[in-house]
Amino acid sequence: MINEKYKTIMDSFELPNGVKLKNRVVMAPMTNYSSNADGTVSDTEVAYYIRRSKGVSMVITACTYVTANGQGFPGEFAGHKDEMIPSLQRLATSIKSEGAKAILQIFHGGRQVPANLVPNGDVVSASNVPSEGADKPVPRALTTEEVESIILDFGQATRRAIEAGYDGVEIHGANTYLIQQFFSPHSNRRNDRFGGSLEKRMTFPLAVVDEVQRIVKEHAKEPFIVGYRFSPEEPETPGITMADTLVLIDALANKNLDYLHVSLGDFWSTPRRGVDDNRSRMEIIQEKVGDRVPVIGVGSIYSSEDARKALTSGVPLIALGRELLIDPDWVQKIEQGKDDEIVTQLDTSMQEQLVIPDPLWQAILRNPGWVPGV
Ligand SMILES: Cc1cc2nc3c(=O)[nH]c(=O)nc-3n(C[C@H](O)[C@H](O)[C@H](O)COP(=O)(O)O)c2cc1C
Repeated sequence: MINEKYKTIMDSFELPNGVKLKNRVVMAPMTNYSSNADGTVSDTEVAYYIRRSKGVSMVITACTYVTANGQGFPGEFAGHKDEMIPSLQRLATSIKSEGAKAILQIFHGGRQVPANLVPNGDVVSASNVPSEGADKPVPRALTTEEVESIILDFGQATRRAIEAGYDGVEIHGANTYLIQQFFSPHSNRRNDRFGGSLEKRMTFPLAVVDEVQRIVKEHAKEPFIVGYRFSPEEPETPGITMADTLVLIDALANKNLDYLHVSLGDFWSTPRRGVDDNRSRMEIIQEKVGDRVPVIGVGSIYSSEDARKALTSGVPLIALGRELLIDPDWVQKIEQGKDDEIVTQLDTSMQEQLVIPDPLWQAILRNPGWVPGV
């Protein structure tokens, strides 16, 4: 029997489009570096997802690139051409067969892509501002026509997701990748309609949302979930501040999205600058959007108590990333009143039982506390 204290975690929840989630726990998107060299989803990757799709209400996949020059990681599966639909479908079917909704995270890495992963080493971004780090190439600023074409690519990846049987897509506007690079005054120094003022820097992110929604309207035969993920702040000056983010999410909250997903390593972190408010970023964001769109909170939620507390912030949904690597039975343990059996430290002798593919396992062992891009 479920522990009375943790009942709220298992409450069902209805998204704005009417899709019902069986509980409040979502698997956070996690890149696993394990796809096949041809960009298809691999057997080990499928097994890894199956192991984690029984308890949670929704699985957000690792990001997939929508354009050939958007691949951010070795072993990232591809979503940029129709040939990939059977591969995408295999992953959707595996997740759904275990009972979770399958959400494909769609992405372009922009200036964060390693030059050796993209055609002709042509690393592109909003502007030619390189990111930190000696190994980072100077990106080429996209032409206006190329920007418009990438917006369409997000739409086409969404069409593939629909055809492959996903329940939805998540637009990856977080973690310093291309969409964030357009919103950021640090990486966007353009002076066409995609850059300049805060308003203009929102043009690309909002155009991606519009195009994805247009494609959904045209192609989806059933309610299809569209979510948007963002990172609230950047450390650089200039850089995205909490004040900037509140303007962006205000606009996003009026877009009929099914959820907004905050990207944070620590659920309770507080703003760096931009607002005179000492509450957590999550609470400030939740207050701003109110009941216009559901918010998914995330960041270092490990125990059942962490999850219960996170829900008291007012966000209706929480995502677990690293904890679902450590304990794939997390939700089932809560469901069965065995919350005291939840494991919160990685047992490094358990790779096989945890069904974690080698490249991801090696990455975790190299840096156990690691959260890329946050
Ligand atoms: C190995 C790893 C890969 C990740 N890959 C992605 C990704 O592809 N897309 C994304 O939006 N976030 C990615 N993240 C961030 C997670 O979604 C999540 O926001 C972060 O891990 C904090 O949640 P946690 O404390 O529950 O792990 C990744 C995190 C990890 C640890």
